[in-house]
Amino acid sequence: MTATAVAHPNIALVKYWGKADASLALPATGSVSMGLDVFPTTTSVTVGGSAEDTLTLNGSVSTDGALVRVTQFLDLVRELAGSSARASVVTENTVPTGAGLASSASGFAALATAAAAAYGLDLSARDLSRLARRGSGSATRSIPGGVAVWHAGDDEGSYAEPIPAPPMAMVVVTIDAGPKAIGSREAMRRTIATSPFYPAWVTSTTETVGDMLTACAAGDFARIGELTESNALRMHATIEGAFPPIRYLNARSVAVFDAVAELRAAGLPAYATADAGPNVVVLTTPEDRAAVATALTGFGDVIESGTGPGAYLLGSEVPATQDPEAPAPGVVRPEESAE
Ligand code: PMV
Repeated sequence: MTATAVAHPNIALVKYWGKADASLALPATGSVSMGLDVFPTTTSVTVGGSAEDTLTLNGSVSTDGALVRVTQFLDLVRELAGSSARASVVTENTVPTGAGLASSASGFAALATAAAAAYGLDLSARDLSRLARRGSGSATRSIPGGVAVWHAGDDEGSYAEPIPAPPMAMVVVTIDAGPKAIGSREAMRRTIATSPFYPAWVTSTTETVGDMLTACAAGDFARIGELTESNALRMHATIEGAFPPIRYLNARSVAVFDAVAELRAAGLPAYATADAGPNVVVLTTPEDRAAVATALTGFGDVIESGTGPGAYLLGSEVPATQDPEAPAPGVVRPEESAE
């Protein structure tokens, strides 16, 4: 049985940084994100036919940590499905892998969607989001796509769902597409263990999630933007407070933050954010994205993005399974089912 799914990365407007429970991947706070419509990951899962799980990532057979993470994730799916069959996973990732541009978000959202279908699970959108969470925290939010909130909570309550928000766009400024020096798992652990700012991060971010939901519901783009930039800088300050320190932003990243402040002073709605890497993503409006992209050309590779879809199955040899109560992402889209 083979199923193929597509998922897109998301960029947090209010960041997830730190787990309350590592084994269940429960976050210490809620977070809010915008899904992108660029950098899709397409993943096919074929159940059976091999004695071990296999992973082919962008055409190369993987035998390292990536395969271990995929196997651990498939073990969860097998447990839910009551199956012991191994699977082969083939994934095409168009995000610069490991560069702090959320390749794990699109990767595990696509894997969760394809694997659930290939193992015959009938999961609601909520349960698919909970499943993706176990692969990578930020993947939780790539199941719904759009603008989404990921709730902190227990295993049942920690999932992402779409929220109403004004039309928004992003401009991704890729300064360095190489893998980051320290992965987010290890960096989160070190931040929690050693950064004296971590408790304040948890308190303030919990408050910011509430403020962001209010701003999104009100369609207040300027407020969404200022909360986004502030929360990103607070996250980086908290991470820099770890010992030994971790610093993801470099001089060129900071130059983009400065350039974005200048664009704002000149009247363009633009607000900067950055994940666990040097690349900067600029939140703006659909009307202004081209002007923002033009202004930032020269700082790095510049790519515009609108708000993207949730994870979905491509036409496959299995029926789309979904909970009628929930707007499940596991829908076979008519235009793609012909492929
Ligand atoms: O879930 P991970 O391991 O990809 O961690 C994501 C961490 C950030 O991208 C920095 C923040 C976020 O909320 O996406």
